[in-house]
Amino acid sequence: MPTLFEPVEFGSIRLKNRIVMAPLTRARSDREAVPNALMAEYYSQRASAGLIISEATGISREGLGWPNAPGLWSEKQVEGWKLVTDAVHRADGKIVAQLWHMGRLVHPDLGGGQPVSASATTAPDFAHTYEGKKPYALARTATRDDIKRIVGDYAAAARNAIAAGFDGVQVHGANGYLVDQFLRDSSNYRTDEYGGSVENRIRFAAEVLSAVGDTIGMERVGVRFSPNIYSQGVEDSDPIPLFAALAHRLEELKVPWIELREAHKPTSAGSIPTEPVSPAMRPIYSGKIALNSDYDGTSARARMAEGIADAISFGRPFISNPDLVERIRSGAALAKGDEGTFYSGGARGYVDYPRLEEAEAA
Ligand SMILES: Cc1cc2nc3c(=O)[nH]c(=O)nc-3n(C[C@H](O)[C@H](O)[C@H](O)COP(=O)(O)O)c2cc1C
Repeated sequence: MPTLFEPVEFGSIRLKNRIVMAPLTRARSDREAVPNALMAEYYSQRASAGLIISEATGISREGLGWPNAPGLWSEKQVEGWKLVTDAVHRADGKIVAQLWHMGRLVHPDLGGGQPVSASATTAPDFAHTYEGKKPYALARTATRDDIKRIVGDYAAAARNAIAAGFDGVQVHGANGYLVDQFLRDSSNYRTDEYGGSVENRIRFAAEVLSAVGDTIGMERVGVRFSPNIYSQGVEDSDPIPLFAALAHRLEELKVPWIELREAHKPTSAGSIPTEPVSPAMRPIYSGKIALNSDYDGTSARARMAEGIADAISFGRPFISNPDLVERIRSGAALAKGDEGTFYSGGARGYVDYPRLEEAEAA
């Protein structure tokens, strides 16, 4: 079995090691969703990862409901992202953009209208807005024209990602956002070709991936799912057949890599996971699989030795350990992050976590 420190290819991207930085929303952009030099510093500090997956990035105003999260639909955003990709590449790193449409989780204050979803549903709990938390609004059912337009928005954002210097993209199919709202039977009640059977529920994800692949080349495309957790009101009554069918489709589409947020204990999402799906996907899907959630160096090594994962992705550990790769290599302790600055705080709790040698010198 390969170790965490052997290179691997995710399509056209060569990773120097198998320690991937998971996508992490940090909300340090401006209200126009434009990335900046502070973000470039943050990402370049973490460029020793085999691959950085960017924070979730809106494909359109309609699809972005997180205050101060970045986007990829305007020229200004592309210019902002160039600061980030240049800095990461100068530090010998690789970075892909996570493409995001939040569907029913976009509050009208941010998206500018009634949100759109697979079906007319309302998400539980509260949306983050610039004026604090507000209840979610009822979404309207996406029409076929909406679907066509949104698929086009994913493709346009992917084109912008390449123009901004990203090495590729990851379609965000996890955590209860739009792709996930189509996939799961708790949020998709459609009776047309996008709902009902497993084959129909995976259609939207497949159309998005196909359009993105046609636009930038499938060798630059990956996708993320969170198959065995309840997330923001979205779950499935029978995940294994759903994700096995999806694995077949990903294989047909030649999507080169997937990342699964596949929890194995109560997670940061606060839910008890169901049975893992990766054992059912592995024999069907020949691309690379990165596994995520709650790993440290020891458990990541053990997981790699089981032969399902080609890489492990780390979220929270990368927030507070910019040199996570080196710490895992040397067996050093991992610093714990300050949750109060996960989603706000400017430079504080963002670019000021020391590397091990800096921490020891202080
Ligand atoms: C602050 C924070 C922001 C996150 N933002 C995203 C995101 O933008 N996209 C995404 O797919 N997952 C996001 N996640 C989930 C992480 O990628 C990851 O799945 C989760 O933290 C579990 O992995 P870990 O135990 O290694 O942290 C976020 C998690 C945290 C803690």
